[in-house]
Parts: sequence; structure tokens; C-alpha cells
Amino acid sequence: MSSKRLFEPVTLGSLTLRNRTVMAPMTRRQSPGGVPTPEVASYYRRRAEGGVGMIITEGLAIDHPVSIQDSRIPDLFTPEAIAAWRGIARDVQAAGAAFVPQLWHIGGARFKYQGVPNPDLPSLSASGIYYPGKVEGAPADDAGITAAIASYGRAARVAMAIGSDAVDLHGGHGYLLDGFFWAETNQRDDAWGGDIERRTRVACEVVKECRRQTRPDFPIILRFSQFKEQAYDAKLCRTPAELQRFLAPLVDAGVDIFDCSTRRFWTPEFEGSDLGLAGWTRKLSGKPVIAVGSVGLANDMIATLHQGAAKSPAARLDLLDTMLARGDFDLVGVGRALISDPDWVAKIEAGRTDELKGFDAADLALLT
Ligand SMILES: Cc1cc2nc3c(=O)[nH]c(=O)nc-3n(C[C@H](O)[C@H](O)[C@H](O)COP(=O)(O)O)c2cc1C
Repeated sequence: MSSKRLFEPVTLGSLTLRNRTVMAPMTRRQSPGGVPTPEVASYYRRRAEGGVGMIITEGLAIDHPVSIQDSRIPDLFTPEAIAAWRGIARDVQAAGAAFVPQLWHIGGARFKYQGVPNPDLPSLSASGIYYPGKVEGAPADDAGITAAIASYGRAARVAMAIGSDAVDLHGGHGYLLDGFFWAETNQRDDAWGGDIERRTRVACEVVKECRRQTRPDFPIILRFSQFKEQAYDAKLCRTPAELQRFLAPLVDAGVDIFDCSTRRFWTPEFEGSDLGLAGWTRKLSGKPVIAVGSVGLANDMIATLHQGAAKSPAARLDLLDTMLARGDFDLVGVGRALISDPDWVAKIEAGRTDELKGFDAADLALLT
């Protein structure tokens, strides 16, 4: 495969990248007490040395007390964690990649396993619903919503202060912001719920607060998804017109780049067109987009987690190039392939596809 376009440098607003590859955000749960260890630091540095254009970190806890469910998830508010991320940002950039922390609030997906921080506090979610039809908690009140918005803003300010190149807001997969987006989990009839425009309001306020706390040209990336961790076949938007109504307020609020989370980058999103979610989002929003999902792998993320191996490591790379050349998307997110091989990008660029080994569920434990 040629991959010419994948390896072109690209400038998107104030962000300039050496190529179009992005390490997708992947939770590793290997930061005890929320502080990334030296092993976590070298894990990110190795991927930068391996040629990735931009690294989006695993989801980092913002300083709202119920933002995560596991104390091994790193945060971006304690002095120790901030110092560690500052060092990681510097190392990643020294190796030629952009550094982008993902800001995360888990919302209603906060199950109270052993080790959950602040176990006595209730979780924060739009309507106390995580599984459609099942009310498990109380809807967030105004004070709770406002506190979470402010917490995102503080995290964005820290992200900029440590020298990050952008922030990525986790608005997908059924977590806090997505819980407001999706009608099944947002049954409110106040200013934070209702039609699809109103269901974007919390995220819009988060984006505006992040903008207020950073410079006017600090890139804000929003990740969103149709699928939810609790409902793989969920649809936030069933038609292009609905997707347009969803995107418009977010564009107005100041999103610079949409990170369109799908399980397979090649799947057509709506009938009658072969455009995927990223392609449609680019077309309807006019903003740059990241496509993601099984790049270089035969099986999607959910299949790997439940069934094991995702072999055929060079699968569909030609198609990826064709879609890039056609202008379907600007950047390409790579997840699992980069867990199992820090040099995945360099190998693809050099055409060394026979050296790729694919991904196995056992690789999830890797941090090398
Ligand atoms: C182990 C693992 C952890 C993940 N953690 C996150 C996360 O913290 N935030 C997020 O937005 N997506 C997360 N994802 C989803 C990935 O960012 C990516 O979208 C997904 O793996 C599809 O890409 P792939 O098929 O190349 O692996 C995770 C995926 C995996 C496999």
C-alpha cells in the first residue's frame, strides 16, 4: 500500500502534525493513586518514538469527585499527577508527536467496584439511567452539572499549562456527556434535556468553559460515538439531518475537531452512501475529523474483548488510504494495534507489514 497521504504533515488550525496518525485514547489502569508511573511515561514515549503524529492519552480524571470508578486511572489535578504528565508531554513532543490529554467523567457508568474513589457519593448522570428503561439513581441537579462543567474547565487549563497541544473531551461510549446526548439516558425536560439540540447543552457549556480557561486558539477536540458501552447498536442520530442538528450547536460552542468513535472505520453510517460517521461529520460540520476503528486489524474492539485475537494486521490499509485521499477524514486513530506494537506507524510507513503481529486479548496487559 502507498499510504502517501497518511504520512503527509498536516496543519489543522494551530495544530501541526508530522503525519495523520493518532494514538487513540486507551485506558490502561496502571497509575496507582492516579499518578502515572515511569512505565506509563515510557509507554507513551515509545509510541511517539515509533512515529505517531499525535498521542491522545487514556481518559484522565477531572477533579469532580465522582469522575472515575477506579483509583488506578490517572488524574489531571493532583500535583504529583500534573508533574508526571508535564514530563510525559515534554518527552512525547521531544520525540516528534503532539500530546493531547483526554478529559474524562464517567457519569452513570460508575459502578461501585472495589477501589472506586468516594464510594459514598452518588454518581452524576442526566437522569439516573445507564441501561435504557432502568432507573438506578437520581438525575443530576443544577449544582452538580455546573460543578462538573467547571471541573472540565480547570482540567483544560492544567492541560494547556503543562504544554499540551490540545485537549480531547470524552463525549462518547455512554459516559457523562454522552449520557446527556442520548435520549434513552437523558429523559429530562428542563434546560439540559429535550430535543437533540438541548441534549448537547451540557457538552456545549463544557466546550465554552474549556475555551474560557485556555487561549482562543487552543484546539478543543470532542470525541463522540453512536454506540454505547451498554448498547453497541445504539444510535444517537438516525439520519444525516439529525446528525447535523447534533453537530451544529457543538460547532457554535467552539469544537475544533471531532473525534468520531466507531468500531470499524469503513462502515457506512447511513443508508444510500458509503460515508462513515467521520465522513458525514466532516461534511456536515465543516470541521476536521478523526476516524477510528479497527485500523490495521480484522476484528473490532468489542470482538477482541469477547472473542480474542484480531489477526490480519494489514487489513484494509489500502481502503484507508483511498478514503483519506477522497477527503473523508483528516486524521486516523489507531488503538489496539499500538498497544501491541509501539512501532506500528514506522512499520506501516516503511512498508514492513510482514512484521506486524496483530492484536490478541492478552496484549491488553502490555505496557511496554
Ligand atoms: C483497552 C482499551 C481502552 C480504551 N479506553 C478508552 C478511553 O479511555 N477513552 C476513549 O475514548 N476510548 C477508549 N477506548 C477506545 C479506543 O480509543 C478506540 O476508539 C477503539 O479501541 C477502536 O480503535 P481500534 O479498533 O484501533 O482499537 C479504549 C479501547 C481499548 C481497547
